[in-house]
Amino acid sequence: MTIFPRPLFLAALAAAAILAIGWQVQAETNRVSFPADLDRLVHYTTVRRGNVTEHILTTPEAITAVQNRQPIPAGTHFVLVDHRDGKLYRYFVMEKGEGFGADYDARRRTADWQFQWFWPDRSLNLGENTARCQSCHASQQGADYLFTAHRIPRFDGTPVE
Ligand code: HEC
Repeated sequence: MTIFPRPLFLAALAAAAILAIGWQVQAETNRVSFPADLDRLVHYTTVRRGNVTEHILTTPEAITAVQNRQPIPAGTHFVLVDHRDGKLYRYFVMEKGEGFGADYDARRRTADWQFQWFWPDRSLNLGENTARCQSCHASQQGADYLFTAHRIPRFDGTPVE
């Protein structure tokens, strides 16, 4: 530390930290918006696990697509409203948009879906690396990247697999 005076060292460290944060925000390409019409989305399914309750919402058109085992239309949001011990904890959002997949390289891409997490006040959680969401949901490629689609009965009455 003799060649680098302490205040300068701390300033350099702070600058590096600011750069790193800036880089992280920029590196994370993401076009997901919090749905402006959340109140108009309808209940799709609920998942309960211990103290966690997840109410999942989407559009009636998307539910019809799931029931017919068809691709989900572009412009759709799926919102997982995550409650812990009965209190709103966070929102997980998946949005499908025309061309959204082109933002990522082939290894990360989940067709035209992008993912995002929002706090209860609907502000963005900037600390999340949504590549993690994609890598887990990639396993559901055969169900348009939805984990729950196979739990929804088909229109023709075929039992849930
Ligand atoms: C380790 C695996 C994993 C990761 C990581 C993950 N998810 Fe999921 N996700 C699931 C599972 C499993 C479900 C089904 C509901 C359940 O069992 O809790 C699900 C359900 C969902 C749903 C409801 C639609 C569906 O697929 O049924 C949304 C929306 C969602 N996740 C968004 C996200 C977002 C946003 C992130 C990242 C911030 C994320 N997920 C990260 C496994 C994961």
